[in-house]
Order: sequence, then C-alpha cells, then structure tokens
Amino acid sequence: MITGGGSGMGLLTGEKLAEQGANVALLDVNEEALAAAEEKIKAAGGSVLALKVDIRNYAEVEAAEKRIVETFGSVDILINAAGGMSGRCCGNCTSFEKLPIEVIDWGLDVNLRGAIYCCRAVLAGMMERKRGVIINFGSVTGEEGGGGPSLDYSAEKSAMKGMTKSLAILGAPHNVRSCCVIPGPVLTRPGMAKMKTLLGRAAETIELVDFILYLCSDKAAFITGSSHVIDGGHLLVR
Ligand SMILES: NC(=O)c1ccc[n+]([C@@H]2O[C@H](COP(=O)([O-])OP(=O)(O)OC[C@H]3O[C@@H](n4cnc5c(N)ncnc54)[C@H](O)[C@@H]3O)[C@@H](O)[C@H]2O)c1
Repeated sequence: MITGGGSGMGLLTGEKLAEQGANVALLDVNEEALAAAEEKIKAAGGSVLALKVDIRNYAEVEAAEKRIVETFGSVDILINAAGGMSGRCCGNCTSFEKLPIEVIDWGLDVNLRGAIYCCRAVLAGMMERKRGVIINFGSVTGEEGGGGPSLDYSAEKSAMKGMTKSLAILGAPHNVRSCCVIPGPVLTRPGMAKMKTLLGRAAETIELVDFILYLCSDKAAFITGSSHVIDGGHLLVR
C-alpha cells in the first residue's frame, strides 16, 4: 500500500516492488497520474490496484485497506509517501507569518494526519498476521528547519521520526517494523537540483528507492525504529 503512489518516490517504489513480484496498491488523489501509473505497471507485467484515495479522509483510507486485503489477501508493506511542503503544493510560498491557514491545514492534514491515518488503518492487520513494514518519509527540513513557508512542513516531517519510533515499539512483538527515510534533494522535480549537498548534486529518485526496497526486505529484519538521512551530505554543508 503506497500513498502518493501516482508520482515520485511512491510511484518508483511501486514499479520496483511490482517488478519483484509484489502486488502493489497505489493510493493518490491525482486520478490522471494514477491511471498512467497503473497502465505502466500493468504493461510491464506487474500486479497493481490503483485507488483514488484522499488520505485526509479516514473512511477512504480504511476502505482502501479493506479493498487491498480483499484483493490481495494482506497489506504487508505501507509506504507513507504522499505529502510535500504545503506552500509549494498549494501554490503559495508566502512567509509563514502571512501564510493562509488553509495552506497550513493542508500540510498538517496530508503530511501528519494522513500518515497517522494510514498507520491506524494497517497496523491491526499487520499485527494479527505477524508481518509488516511501515516506511515513513521525513525531510531534511524536519532536521534543520527552514524559512519562508516551511514551518509546518518542518514540524510535520520531524514528527515522522517520533511516529516511526512508536510504531516500532507497538509493532516489535508482532514482527512489524517501521523506519523513517529522511531525503535531502531528490530529482522527483527539477527544482530540487538547486539545493546544496556535499556531493554537489541532488539524488536520482532510484537512489532513495533502492534504500527503501532494502528497508522493506527481510535483509533489513534487524532494522526498526530508526530514521535514515539520505541527503548527499546536505546537512553538513556550511
Ligand atoms: N522530492 C524531494 O526532494 C523530497 C525531499 C524530502 C522529503 N520528501 C518527501 O518524500 C515524499 C515523497 O516525495 P516526492 O517528491 O516523491 O513526492 P511527489 O510530489 O512526486 O508525489 C506526492 C504525491 O502525493 C499525492 N498526494 C497529495 N495529497 C494527497 C492526499 N491528500 N492523498 C493522497 N495522495 C496525495 C500527490 O498527488 C502526488 O502524486 C513526500 O512526503 C515528501 O515530502 C521529498
């Protein structure tokens, strides 16, 4: 179950998991992107279910989890990829003190509430089946803060670390793991190339996805509760 599965890291993770034989459910609000993603994975021979879901709505999230279990038998992996900086996503990058409350609410609702809702919807089933991995997305903005419109985003993304630890504590007795991935600039959008890193470039999307696939695999069976910065040294740039 991959939220934000119509685009970026969510989509590429879905494509790669499908290549490895997983049944993949992509959840997104963007119907056009979902349809294109579904077609691409099907054309490559993958097994995919594309679901229009707004993760801000718990009833929709819960219905999606049920539909996936009915179709595929279980949710073994949740990738909480939907989200982004509210100012950018809502097309208003005014500084925080002047930012419309609706923009701040979008950030809180998608990046925080939506991610929590998805965990709530899948955790009981994972615990019962004694198998599960939940991957959350932080951001370097959650580590270093940021000016302009990024106040709510930094709060929501650093919250993913605490949520990941709590999931690890709840899940461990039931063979459920959780990890948080903290990306620096990733080229899911060309604009990310502007952000400075020690390595002098932004990450290709696959560089994040390969690490996510590892965390989801049994090779990472001893890794839980941890947050992993993958930023080309962005946080060390002086
Ligand atoms: N790209 C980066 O450089 C970067 C850096 C740090 C953190 N991140 C985080 O990584 C995650 C993935 O980033 P990306 O760049 O691959 O994303 P993206 O912008 O390519 O895709 C996000 C997807 O989420 C979907 N979405 C938005 N609101 C939704 C909702 N209410 N319900 C369901 N789906 C919704 C969008 O339609 C979109 O398809 C995000 O949480 C982002 O904040 C990204």
